[in-house]
Amino acid sequence: MKTRKIIIDTDPGIDDAVAIIAAAMIPEFELLGICSVGGNKGIECTTDNALRLSAFIGKNTPVFKGAAASLQPISPDYVRKVPEGLIHGSNGLGEYNPPIDSTLLQKTPAVDFILESAKKYPDELEIIALGPLTNLALCIEQDIETMKKIKAIYSMGGSVYRGNVTPVAEFNYWHDPLAVQTVCQKLGAFTDIFMIGLELTAACFMDMNYLSFITNQKTKEAEFISAILPTYIKYNWEIGKTLGVIIHDLITVLFAHTPELCKNIPHVNLQCVCDSEIARGQTIVDFDADLCDKNAYVPLVIDAEALKENFIRILFREQGVSEYRDAMHRIQNINRHDFFLS
Ligand code: BDR
Ligand code: CA
Repeated sequence: MKTRKIIIDTDPGIDDAVAIIAAAMIPEFELLGICSVGGNKGIECTTDNALRLSAFIGKNTPVFKGAAASLQPISPDYVRKVPEGLIHGSNGLGEYNPPIDSTLLQKTPAVDFILESAKKYPDELEIIALGPLTNLALCIEQDIETMKKIKAIYSMGGSVYRGNVTPVAEFNYWHDPLAVQTVCQKLGAFTDIFMIGLELTAACFMDMNYLSFITNQKTKEAEFISAILPTYIKYNWEIGKTLGVIIHDLITVLFAHTPELCKNIPHVNLQCVCDSEIARGQTIVDFDADLCDKNAYVPLVIDAEALKENFIRILFREQGVSEYRDAMHRIQNINRHDFFLS
């Protein structure tokens, strides 16, 4: 099988962690490396977590340290809707501390690795960006012509209607709006850029039945996910009384795997607000295909059930999918005596 060349750029992060585990298990993906970036936590912590994840997936995937600070500094006075540390726990992995393998950390900085890979695999390299786009923007500043050789960027971030860190901004884009502008304005005409925003990730909400099916399995991946997810679930319950979670970064990986689950992907003009304190990181999406300069794709509607089944398939193969379908069927028929007698 010809594999797809993938780099994951990430700030792990509980949802980043689940996403990386999934990406490592997708047979069509060849994971060339994991690049860290400051975001959910500082760069030392996100790099350590990337090293822990690489050690866990066990394929000697190299880790490259990326940018510590966003291109656009965040005012220390800025009040976020969600205090730092709450969502992902104090260590970014829900207080779980899997073993670290520091030998996987490379001397090459993330920016150089991305540029080298783009040169090595022209029109083939795909980047799944699960954190702020700082590393990618720095690559563009350094060598735009090489960046034009990238086939696609799947970026978790942004939203059309509302934010999650401020009323109008999603966290990754809020963290470094200038990086989003740089990537879309300078690269969007040459490379396919997919904004996987909050609308798409919310459409793939995972309820407690779904999550319990995963955490009840006995594989090492299920055990890892079971160890990190409780913090994330607890936060979602406390903040929104939601029984379940949106694993944003995982949805981004799953979308990159099977974009055909979106029947219609609008090609749009995407701008990210940089010059306002109150609207920092807000995404302005122009869907007027005839009039706008298109620089991004913004999928909004997806076959969420198929996507969720795909995740089960990635984790537990076809056998898992059939057990999952049986389990869901049983829930739906729990009050039918004839069902259990048949
Ligand atoms: C994004 O913000 C981070 O907290 C998550 O890891 C995800 O990438 C969701 O807004
Ligand atoms: Ca992330």
